Amino acid sequence: MIHELYRKLQFPDLGDERGKLVVAEGELDIPFAIKRVFYIYGSDDSVVRGQHANRESEFVLINVAGSSKVMITDGENREIVELNRPMEGVYIPKMIWKEMYDFSPDSVLLVLASTHYDGSEYIRDFEVYSTEMKKIHEEMKVK
Ligand code: TYD
Repeated sequence: MIHELYRKLQFPDLGDERGKLVVAEGELDIPFAIKRVFYIYGSDDSVVRGQHANRESEFVLINVAGSSKVMITDGENREIVELNRPMEGVYIPKMIWKEMYDFSPDSVLLVLASTHYDGSEYIRDFEVYSTEMKKIHEEMKVK
């Protein structure tokens, strides 16, 4: 494998009798400095989101409410991770293809990103992605 597909992260839960409080600090709990935050809600089990790889951006996905699944692949290896705990995140490195789906009606999927938005660093065609990754995997095998 060229690099890791994903990494599960556990965040400190500082909850007490008043309720839960989960902290995720950039460069400490999150493996990068956070430059952007977005969140996805109002999706359901009929949609597939993502379906892209990013040349520059790293992400951490956290279902702060509800649940969803994310399929993660580097073109060769493929994993499905269920996101359903507010104190758990999934780190996705650069150049990994991801598809988020099976959103529960109450799903709020928080995404932390290492970059500001730049549409030109997205690879949105799986054929293009998988051709590029095949070359990279072949080069790694020769070495
Ligand atoms: P898209 O990449 O399709 O969302 P997802 O991968 O979560 O399914 O983004 C939807 C639209 O929003 C698209 O026109 C690009 C725009 N967008 C931004 O302008 N900034 C952002 O940070 C993100 C994530 C998307």
